Amino acid sequence: MKHDLAIRGGTLATATETYRADIGIRAGRIVTIAEAVTDADDVIDATNRIVMPGGIEAHCHIAQESGMGVMTSDDYLSGSMSAAFGGNSCFVPFAAQNKGESLANTIQRYDGRAAPKSVLDWSYHLILTDPTPDVLAELPEVFAKGVTSFKVFMTYATRVSDAQFLDILSVAGKHGGLTMVHAENHDMLDWMGRRMVDGGNVAPRYHAPSRPGLAEGEAINRAISLARLAQAPLFIVHVSTPVGAKLVAEARANGGQVWAETCPQYLSLTREDLDKPGMEGAKFICSPPLRDTATQAALWQHVQGGSLSLVSSDHAPYRYDETGKFHAGKDVNFRQIANGMPGIEMRLPLLFSEGVTKGRISLNQFVALSSTNAARIYGMLPRKGTLSIGADADIAIWDPNQTRIAGEMHDNMDYNPFAGIEVTGWPVTVLGRGRRIVEGRELMAKPGDGLFVKRATVDLTGQPGHPVPELDPAQNFGANLS
Ligand code: URP
Ligand code: ZN
Ligand code: ZN
Repeated sequence: MKHDLAIRGGTLATATETYRADIGIRAGRIVTIAEAVTDADDVIDATNRIVMPGGIEAHCHIAQESGMGVMTSDDYLSGSMSAAFGGNSCFVPFAAQNKGESLANTIQRYDGRAAPKSVLDWSYHLILTDPTPDVLAELPEVFAKGVTSFKVFMTYATRVSDAQFLDILSVAGKHGGLTMVHAENHDMLDWMGRRMVDGGNVAPRYHAPSRPGLAEGEAINRAISLARLAQAPLFIVHVSTPVGAKLVAEARANGGQVWAETCPQYLSLTREDLDKPGMEGAKFICSPPLRDTATQAALWQHVQGGSLSLVSSDHAPYRYDETGKFHAGKDVNFRQIANGMPGIEMRLPLLFSEGVTKGRISLNQFVALSSTNAARIYGMLPRKGTLSIGADADIAIWDPNQTRIAGEMHDNMDYNPFAGIEVTGWPVTVLGRGRRIVEGRELMAKPGDGLFVKRATVDLTGQPGHPVPELDPAQNFGANLS
């Protein structure tokens, strides 16, 4: 059997195994995994390298206006390029609905932003900002198009009420969609934020105490309870506290169809970064905010123990100028500064270095957290997120011994919040459907090479849920439910 490409001499790592094998690729797919693949037109020598499924970045904001109306600095070219240099071969940015807009229109708008530019295969999570009955009725059509997950907010101007949240969960649950949620209690944040500013505490450092972990814990607990009542699966984005992670772990132990992620910033930065002189702390304003070192250590334990299924970047790139962080001016209080930081290229090297190299997680956990779990939860397995026969040849080849100090990235940002950190373990070659996207320090792919990935509905295998009888009035009381 002739192959288009062989990857020879490497050590393969999946979410479950590490072993020595060659990979043979034909027509963009993995067709052979064997001790030796010798018949190929092209060969990549992976001796002393680790060969893994390409990363899947499942939380990033690309060519997207924020809730404050600020456009991210990265479009689908710079965003996908930067993701590729960071070891990803697929990403799932958000497509944010405008008020009054149909979801079909939202997807069409984002197709115009993504298709001509992306070097990576991509899909979207929708962001629902206007969940009217018409919009909810449209959700099943959106799922049928392969956009099978969407996010809602419990804070910001675009937040949903508990009643709206229940309606949304109920529709998603019935039609196989996955509801993602930014869980922080809006009124707690607003109350604390106003007290801070009214007392003259306006510097970036006050962003952290204005958004206490308590507000995250309360909202996660409520979100899980609402999902349980609606009997719908739920994904909690960017968990920043052990209290939140524990609630997710407990819900899962009770059979709940609940997953969650954390992000590299919560695992490697702290709120002390907000104390930098002048307005420098603005670079580290993201929500939920950076926490303290004890919180960081406890979050690592949840990553190790498996209560958090993904480590995603939450790449939200706003430059340190008037187009981004200071869209409302330089002389502003912390509440007026754009929320979010870049990290799409640093996510995997940081997780590898701080996780695998430092012995906190195994190589197989790294693969699960960076790729396979995202493929499973977001309906892309077995096509993406694994090394198996028939899978897309989305492959990242890593040099586990390469050490670099983090510096400038390939995104369109003017700062890297992780700059100066020594990182051991970097991707050296990234393939998408068998084509080289990145080779060493060079981009090989062209804008528009990426393809839209039509995703399946959420895979609940092994997580059947345990519907509680008291929550099933139809069964218990003969009630008629719409
Ligand atoms: O501060 C953040 N995380 N900004 C991006 C939007 C979001 O809430 O995920
Ligand atoms: Zn968020
Ligand atoms: Zn986000």
